[in-house]
Amino acid sequence: MELRPIGVVRSVRGDVSEIEIRPELAEGLFRLEENEKVLILFIFDRSEGYDLKVHPKGDPRNPLAGVFATRSPRRPNPIGATVVRLLQLEGNVLTVEGLDAWEGTPVVDIKPDHRRDILHTAGKF
Ligand SMILES: C[S@@+](CC[C@H](N)C(=O)[O-])C[C@H]1O[C@@H](n2cnc3c(N)ncnc32)[C@H](O)[C@@H]1O
Repeated sequence: MELRPIGVVRSVRGDVSEIEIRPELAEGLFRLEENEKVLILFIFDRSEGYDLKVHPKGDPRNPLAGVFATRSPRRPNPIGATVVRLLQLEGNVLTVEGLDAWEGTPVVDIKPDHRRDILHTAGKF
């Protein structure tokens, strides 16, 4: 299976990033602004290889842990997942706070923060 990015992190200024979504997919953003927090899934496109056990945060003082027990960018499938605050949605551009992805990072999906899903399941929305 091949993943095709839906957009890209086009700028990073401190803690605020802009994500540009492919124009032909912009309709899929309809009502996203109703969510204060959204989950951004992206690809660590500048990460190479992986180790199955790592020192978290690359700090040898942190005891070894399995890669799946960490948030290391070096992993078998280099997928990043970060919950961010949605500051603005204008056309096909999202402005978000708290995204720890570099400029140029491919974005592969966006979803409302899962906590809202839990409330959905409980019939609260
Ligand atoms: C520790 S990872 C955690 C990412 C996300 N919060 C997660 O849990 O999946 C975040 C770090 O990955 C690195 N990074 C960000 N964008 C990257 C990219 N496009 N390719 C490779 N490494 C990247 C940066 O060092 C950044 O601080």
